[in-house]
Formats: sequence, structure tokens, C-alpha cells
Amino acid sequence: MEASGVINLKRLVGKGGNGKVGAITVDTHRFLTPSIAQAIASAHGTPCYVYDEATLNAQADAMLAFPNAFGVTARFAMKACPNASVLRLFLAKGLHFDASSGYEVRRAMKAGVPAERISLSSQELPEDFAELLKLGIQVNACSLLQLERIGRALPGHEVGIRFNPGRGSGGTGKTNVGGPDSSFGIWFEWADQVKSIAAQNKLKIIRIHTHIGSGSDPVVWQEVSAASLALVKAFPEVHTLNLGGGYKVARVAAEKGTDPQIVGAPVRAAFEKFAKDDGRKLKLEIEPGTFLVANAGAVLCRVQDVVSTDTRKFIKLDSGMTEILRPSLYGSQHPVHLYPAKPTDKSVDYVVVGHCCESGDLISCAPGEPETLATRQLPEAHAGDLCVIGGAGAYCAGMSTKNYNSFPEAPEVLLQTNGSARLIRRRQSLDQILQNEILD
Ligand code: LLP
Repeated sequence: MEASGVINLKRLVGKGGNGKVGAITVDTHRFLTPSIAQAIASAHGTPCYVYDEATLNAQADAMLAFPNAFGVTARFAMKACPNASVLRLFLAKGLHFDASSGYEVRRAMKAGVPAERISLSSQELPEDFAELLKLGIQVNACSLLQLERIGRALPGHEVGIRFNPGRGSGGTGKTNVGGPDSSFGIWFEWADQVKSIAAQNKLKIIRIHTHIGSGSDPVVWQEVSAASLALVKAFPEVHTLNLGGGYKVARVAAEKGTDPQIVGAPVRAAFEKFAKDDGRKLKLEIEPGTFLVANAGAVLCRVQDVVSTDTRKFIKLDSGMTEILRPSLYGSQHPVHLYPAKPTDKSVDYVVVGHCCESGDLISCAPGEPETLATRQLPEAHAGDLCVIGGAGAYCAGMSTKNYNSFPEAPEVLLQTNGSARLIRRRQSLDQILQNEILD
């Protein structure tokens, strides 16, 4: 490794394919093959997040080509993976950004994202929102009170409105953010109140925003998109419709991803029809998080113990909910690849668990059931074997039980298209975990 934290992997590319270990074929991760995994683990230790630049680029290209009638702005929902190097990569690709707090706005700006490329849709309007809006940040008011506060602080300003369109759809109940049971956005039937608050403060409503959930059913998404056009009709100054994110990706073979070309085509037609009927050529905005990063990231870790009961065999990783919380939170499915150091002829059905003192720190849960144990058929494992958990680019490094059991925040590494691996975040130290504690 060079002092800069860069390791050259060129000599390893192509060497890590579907290797045979003993008589069984080792199922290898797409970009984190055994030899690359070994090189990164030696240089940076485990656990560690690894992102693949080529995949990030390809996913960005797919979203920039989203079907549209009169122009599209693709915003990266940065909560999915907020590392500055990832933000910069997407900035260079031409993406814009969706921030969900004032802190995310400032974080994007610190990474070099110009204010005009950021929009804020937040459950909590930051204290300094007026300052941010004056800098050029765009805002979608997500409640009537938010709209009032914006109006009082900046009368005459241009705003977007995030509506709850009355329906939602998510891969799980926890990721559905639309319908009567959801606190996200302004209920669509309160459009008259929106108009009167806007009129009192001379606010100009130029954008309608809806986001109904993550892992949304594409049919529901399309229906809500059409319904959102009806909301646009009620606001004559609106020139942009933001249809949020939520596009599914397949992390494991049993899942089916959403094809942006297929889901977007009828929406393009609806925008064209709207233009014919109404005269407005609406700009489309989309704000995917998962789609852009989920399958571009993985957690590289090690087996640190193998234990059993009379009925179960467990692999204990040196990672877990401290790096990847999604299985424990949603019962989400992530592929697990094991790279045995010693050749083996055997495969075993293992329950894969994390290192936290928490029975819920379970990686191999049943689909949608965080508390139900399931097994993964893997090569016979021994302590020290490398393990790769796939589909971990979205809502993993940015959404974990960081520092639980005082485990430090794991480093992040970017596999670059030039054949090198660059450290883009260091491992946290114990002193950094403790730095804000005050003893007397
Ligand atoms: N726009 C808004 C306003 C959002 O709240 C979200 C996600 C997105 C866009 C991006 O959604 P995506 O394309 O990533 O589905 N932590 C969960 C999902 C909840 C995300 C919340 N908001 C996960 O691990 O899947």
C-alpha cells in the first residue's frame, strides 16, 4: 500500500473468479473476488466497506437515462451512502442531491456540491433553514408548519411541497412512507390549506414532490405518479414534479429489480399528455438512493468463530449490525459469500450472525422476518476465513448501530476503475469514540 491509502489491484484482476476449493465451487462476489478481498483485508483490516466505482458509474448512467418528456434531474438520496468520495463521484457524473437534514445539506456542501444542486426534504426543518435557502438550497416543505415557517422567514420565496399522495408502497411496512398511517409529507387533501399559507406569505409553489417508500411496487409507483399530476394541476405555477426514489434492486436471486426504462415509460407518456391538456411542459425529478448504490457496495469481514447447539451451526462474523443493520431492522436479504482459507469438500447450512451482544444481530434471517433464523449453505467455515456480504452499498455505512458494544466505525474503500483500491474513510479509533465524553 502507498502512504496515500491506495493499493494497486491490477495484478489481481481476473484471478479471483469462481475458484474451486476442494471439491466445492466457491460462490464469489462480483467485484470482491477472493484475491481482491484478501488484498483489501490485508491492507485495511476487517470489517470494511468496499464500493465499486464501475458499478456506481453504471447505475448513475441508468438513472440519468430515465425516460422523460421534457428533461429529468436525477438526485442521489445521499442518506443511502453519504461518503464525500461517493458524492463527488456522482457530482462529476451530473447527478443532483436530495438531503434529508440540515446536516446532510452541510455535508454535501463540504464535499463540494454547489448549493443549487441540493434539495432538502426533511422530517425536521433545520434551525438555519433560511440561511441554507438563501445560499440556493431548494426546499420541499414536508408539513404545513414547515411551509408556514418558510413563509414567515422568506416571504415570496420559491418552494416545493412534499405531498403524501394517499397511498404508499415499500418493500416492508417499515419502508412504506405514504398513506394515512404515514407522517411523511402533507396529506393530499390539505391542498387548500397549502394554498392559503402560500398566499398569506406570497410563496411561489414551483415543485410538487412525492416519495411513497423504498422498494416500492412499480405499479403503485406508476399509479401514484399519475395521481401526482392531478396535484400539479391544482398549482398553476408548478414547473417540476419530483417522483421520489424507491426503485427496487435485486440483492439476491429471488428478488426482482425495477427497470427504470420500463417503470418510467408510461410516466413519460403521462407528462406528454399533461402538456397537451394543460400546456405545461413539466420537468421530472427522481431521487433514487438504493438503486444507485446498493449493489455497488459490500461488507468485507471475517469469520471469527464457529459455534453450534444440538440443532444449529453458527458462523460469527467480526461484523454485524454495527456495519449492516438492514437484516435486523427489515429482515432484508443480503448475499453471503465465504472464502475459506483451507480447501474443503464440505458445505454446511449455517446461521450467520454478527458480533454484537444482541440476539437480533442476525444476518441470515428469513425474508422480511428479522427475528426468524434461516440458514445459508456455505463452504465449511473456520475462524479467519474471509466473508463478503453483498448488496451493502445503500443504508449500511450510513445507517448502522455504529459504536454499539464500542466497536469502531468501519473504514470504506473505493475500488477504482483504474485498478486501484483507495481508502475513502479510515477506521475510527477508540479515542475518537470517546472524544466528546466529559469526565469532570
Ligand atoms: N427521497 C426521499 C424523500 C426519501 O425519504 C428516500 C428514502 C429516498 C428518496 C430514497 O429512497 P430509495 O431509492 O433509497 O428507496 N433505510 C431504508 C429505506 C428508507 C429510506 C428512507 N428514505 C433501506 O435500508 O432500504
